[in-house]
Amino acid sequence: MENVLITGANRGIGLELSRRFLDAGKRVIATCREPDEAIELSNLAESFELLVFQLEVTDAESVSRLRAELESETLDVLINNAGIMGGDRQSMDDMDYSAWLEAFEVNTLAPFRLITTLRDNLRRAANPRAVTLSSQMGSLNRKSKGSHAYRSSKAAINKVMQVLSMELEADGIVACPVHPGWVRTDMGGSNADISAEESAEGLFKLIDNMTMEHTGRFWTWEAKEHPW
Ligand SMILES: NC(=O)c1ccc[n+]([C@@H]2O[C@H](COP(=O)([O-])OP(=O)(O)OC[C@H]3O[C@@H](n4cnc5c(N)ncnc54)[C@H](OP(=O)(O)O)[C@@H]3O)[C@@H](O)[C@H]2O)c1
Repeated sequence: MENVLITGANRGIGLELSRRFLDAGKRVIATCREPDEAIELSNLAESFELLVFQLEVTDAESVSRLRAELESETLDVLINNAGIMGGDRQSMDDMDYSAWLEAFEVNTLAPFRLITTLRDNLRRAANPRAVTLSSQMGSLNRKSKGSHAYRSSKAAINKVMQVLSMELEADGIVACPVHPGWVRTDMGGSNADISAEESAEGLFKLIDNMTMEHTGRFWTWEAKEHPW
């Protein structure tokens, strides 16, 4: 049975990804900041192979604790899903610089820390995959204004994933950023294009079929290659 670790799994896309991988018979290691408040995950744990761990992705000690708890585990899939927008003030006239830095901590630095910290767990798998939820908003190819903090943190994680894909090739670890679509969640809002279930369904098919052929490329939830 494959082990799939998903960060930020208590709501939004992370929760639906957890449900979808569980439905497919995978064992899911769901992480969230407040497990006691993660009612949906607690309910799922009653009927599925689901473990819930506390994880604040920006906290090095929290990541070390997770690594210690998973010491003997094999990780087939690691999904860096946890992410933030980086505050409401992201314009030329009004910028929240501390929220911008926080966006980099959550969206850019944390996925790097998790992948490198859990590298040995991944190396044990037959087809290990490290996937990070990025966004088309970070694509250099797409010309649109505003959201400086969010866009730059996602553009940066795209580059990090590309570099990691080359460095992890010898370990046989697939590394890709993925765009989940514009999704109706707390982050995406109610006017977004697709439901979290639709996004999770597409991402599940993509990630379940990922091989080294996919590594170092930017993918969409519809399994199409996205321009960088
Ligand atoms: N929704 C969209 O349209 C869209 C589009 C493109 C990309 N994405 C990306 O997809 C991912 C998931 O988005 P979503 O729409 O599901 O967002 P969401 O509904 O806002 O959920 C975000 C998740 O990330 C967790 N999180 C945030 N900061 C964290 C931290 N420091 N440590 C641990 N967990 C943390 C949250 O936990 P708490 O509940 O504790 O806050 C929550 O579980 C993000 O990376 C986002 O950038 C989303």
